[in-house]
Amino acid sequence: MKAIRGATTVNCDSPQEIREKVKELLDRIAAANKLTADSFICIMLSSTGDIRSLYPAKAAREAGYSGCALYSSLEPDMEGALPLCIRVMVLAETCNSPKHIYLHGAAALRKDLSRVINIALDGPAGSGKSTVSKLIAKKLDILSLDTGAMYRAVALKCIREGVDYAEKSQVERIIENIDLRVGYKDGRQLTLLDGEDVSGEIRTAQVSMLASYVSAYPSVRTKMVSLQREIAKSMSCVLDGRDIGTNVLPDCPFKFFLTAAPEIRAMRRFSEDRLKGSAQSYEQILKDINERDEQDRNRAVAPLKCAQDAVVIDTSEMTAEEVASLICGKIQEKI
Ligand code: DC
Repeated sequence: MKAIRGATTVNCDSPQEIREKVKELLDRIAAANKLTADSFICIMLSSTGDIRSLYPAKAAREAGYSGCALYSSLEPDMEGALPLCIRVMVLAETCNSPKHIYLHGAAALRKDLSRVINIALDGPAGSGKSTVSKLIAKKLDILSLDTGAMYRAVALKCIREGVDYAEKSQVERIIENIDLRVGYKDGRQLTLLDGEDVSGEIRTAQVSMLASYVSAYPSVRTKMVSLQREIAKSMSCVLDGRDIGTNVLPDCPFKFFLTAAPEIRAMRRFSEDRLKGSAQSYEQILKDINERDEQDRNRAVAPLKCAQDAVVIDTSEMTAEEVASLICGKIQEKI
């Protein structure tokens, strides 16, 4: 049995935010320690005196952590304490060394644990980023953040709301009110739009094309980049995208840019899609890839571009496993 620590902060004392943040904290503890809610033996929570509207233990129970003993207490008011803070200690059956999780500025409580490692992985569609990103995350025991999924969710929202995506003001209205979050289940990313898991629905060809289109709007990029920076600050992860090394995390010490010939990228997509039962032809996929490259490279804001200090890897003749091993080797050299 191991004790796992964690903490988070809320922006205000609202039951809804307490619910969301407690759930996020426990879900992240579970994901990082490869646990399910059933393997939690007990959860002890404490909150600072400025949190009064909901017992964090009640929020934990509502979030599905109801099969174990739950307890919450109020901390004494201490001068200089981190305000609006919820702390947790979880006892769980695990044989791994515990991974403690500190979110939303709560890492300030534990400087010794707060070393977050981010890895920037950029490249065009079909260069192998998302497969490689997941492999690296697994090898380093961290999480992977597919930033393209976030742009795809914006595109899906536009489709669902029937907005004319060529109309900037209509897309701006969508982006102002979007409820877009990223969660993890068994280490796998879930894209949550308005609370619904849309991880499967964002993978259609229509969403791909529209994601590339809407990602050119500055308002969309500003919002997504700020969400991505917030996530990257709170956890060690591999971020795959188009502008991670150049724009989202320009100071990131680990930057990689994957390339591959368009024909190879199209063939990879074609093979992947065929396994999923998609009927798109190779020629159509190649055409779409070239069109998306063109759109992603030529947009005015944060275009797809290799950062000057990124390591460029041509993956045309490599397997994903080879690329991931090469990258992990380069990271180990630097750490
Ligand atoms: O990686 P993907 O195919 O899932 O990305 C979907 C679209 O989102 C892609 O055409 C470009 C855009 N995108 C972006 O502009 N910046 C990112 N960091 C990630 C994706």
